[in-house]
Amino acid sequence: MNPPDQRWWHDQVVYQIYPRSFADSNGDGIGDLPGILARLDHLVALGVGVVWLSPVYRSPMADNGYDISDYRDIAPEFGTLADFDALVAALHARGIRLVMDLVVNHCSDQHPWFAQGRQSRDHPWHGYFIWGEPAGDGGPPNHPPNNWEACFNGPAWTFNPPTGDYFLHLFSPQQPDLDWRCPALRAEVHNIQRFWLARGVDGFRMDVINLIAKPWGDDGRLPDAPVVQPGPVQPAFALVVHGPQLMAYLREMRAEVLSHHDLLTVGEAPLATPAQGREIIDPDTGALGMLFQFEHMDLDCQPGGGKWALKPLHLPDLKASMQRWQDALHGRGWNSLYLGNHDQPRVVSRWGDDGRWRVHSAKLLATWLHGQQGTPYIYQGEELGMSNTPLASIDDCRDIESINHFRAAVQRGQAPAEVMRSIRAKGRDNARTPMAWDASAHGGFSTGTPWLASNPNFTDINAAQARADGDSVFHHYRQLIALRRLHPVWLWGRTVQLLAEHEQVAAYLRVWQDRRLLVLCNFSAEHQCFDLPAEAVLQAPTLLLGNWPAEGDGGASVPAHWRLRPWEARIYLGCAARDTTAGP
Ligand code: NOJ
Repeated sequence: MNPPDQRWWHDQVVYQIYPRSFADSNGDGIGDLPGILARLDHLVALGVGVVWLSPVYRSPMADNGYDISDYRDIAPEFGTLADFDALVAALHARGIRLVMDLVVNHCSDQHPWFAQGRQSRDHPWHGYFIWGEPAGDGGPPNHPPNNWEACFNGPAWTFNPPTGDYFLHLFSPQQPDLDWRCPALRAEVHNIQRFWLARGVDGFRMDVINLIAKPWGDDGRLPDAPVVQPGPVQPAFALVVHGPQLMAYLREMRAEVLSHHDLLTVGEAPLATPAQGREIIDPDTGALGMLFQFEHMDLDCQPGGGKWALKPLHLPDLKASMQRWQDALHGRGWNSLYLGNHDQPRVVSRWGDDGRWRVHSAKLLATWLHGQQGTPYIYQGEELGMSNTPLASIDDCRDIESINHFRAAVQRGQAPAEVMRSIRAKGRDNARTPMAWDASAHGGFSTGTPWLASNPNFTDINAAQARADGDSVFHHYRQLIALRRLHPVWLWGRTVQLLAEHEQVAAYLRVWQDRRLLVLCNFSAEHQCFDLPAEAVLQAPTLLLGNWPAEGDGGASVPAHWRLRPWEARIYLGCAARDTTAGP
């Protein structure tokens, strides 16, 4: 990818809003669209160019809106279509674009397609879903068609008495999977996209898009997953991702809808390999603009153990993973850069230090991420350095994933305290606590009782404090966002990893013609001393940004021997000292 191929979203930063937890305008304890509208000054001050809105469609909210019962309406708790139109207009008036969340691997079991389609095998909407006959000799309801496990626990199949067979749901039974083999269903999806494009949206984030094409066997069945754990059900995602028809479905969507507009599209793609990612986002032969890959998000769990089997992060693993994706997509695609979202714990608690070094480590993580090639995504509150919340017991949790996991793990005999340890570290409620706006009740999120308790540290960590303090995490993000647009090397430079094996320091160069960006990060609370290879010696360096006061000459020269203070991060801009690295 070169400057002539620049798309509008290449030099933007995206801000993800989880509407339920952002701002509540009417005191019902649930965030809403007018609440967002009233807080746009925050986004303008930060300098982001795009908002990705997690689902606001009508929904029974079994999975907080990732279970949609009407793709053409707004959930009443979030507002109305008129509120939505007003939000789009207000964002556009401020030069900010809006990306909708499109959830079309599955819908809600309350969607008329399913509510009616499940009544009879002859109903035209029956074919929008995936059905299977009871396996073997056993009768229903305890002999599902195969051994797949649902993401939110239990079998991925539920028996449907009116039709005498089972429907597939990779997530919860309230989220039946759609059958993309059905041309009428695909046409519905295209029309849903056209509906929102006509309302002015600027793109789509596509939920678990690499799961839509199921691995049908020649016998018309979905094969069993390999047995990797005790019990009747087995994890199935590895079998389902990037199915044989995936690219055909996505290319059809591109031809039908996406290619007629200038959009930001980003597909969520669990377990995607770099090769698969490249196929999905190849600018000529692919279909989407970017991809949320998960490789780095899976580095702090035991292999094969799932997200709850905790393991400390080994920094060289993170660097290697980052480099793999930087290399895979450089010149032939575009990375999305993220460390948090509504499904992940707060990154400052996960990989930083949310105690003494909270501010420094939050800035460091931002610097490490934003210095790479790609479009960065900020999840609401990340720009304040919001941290994980103290979930005392399962009663404090609201997330279907944590609640189901707790029940199942305790039933299997795991000690409740042990299960809670994982949920405290990885549970999705951590990121979903109300946005902290100020030090008033509930952090200024709501005048009512929030649907999920605020993180008690809102009295110290909130937007009003951060915006007033020139040295805050917020202002560090603001500077990163502004800087990336100023320097072509930031946009186009190839990434060269330095000190790949170092266990505390992450360092990399960005290389574009004779320009260089040098990013140095000390991921520890100790001082770190190290030398850099000759290729990292810059001519005429400028310290663009750091998270400690500059030492000595204010960063005008780089030392022969480096010493970084606890959780220190720096970005230098300069020129190549000598011609040791190849061009872009
Ligand atoms: C991924 C979404 O980000 C997550 O929140 C949701 O639970 C699943 N997909 C199912 O839609």
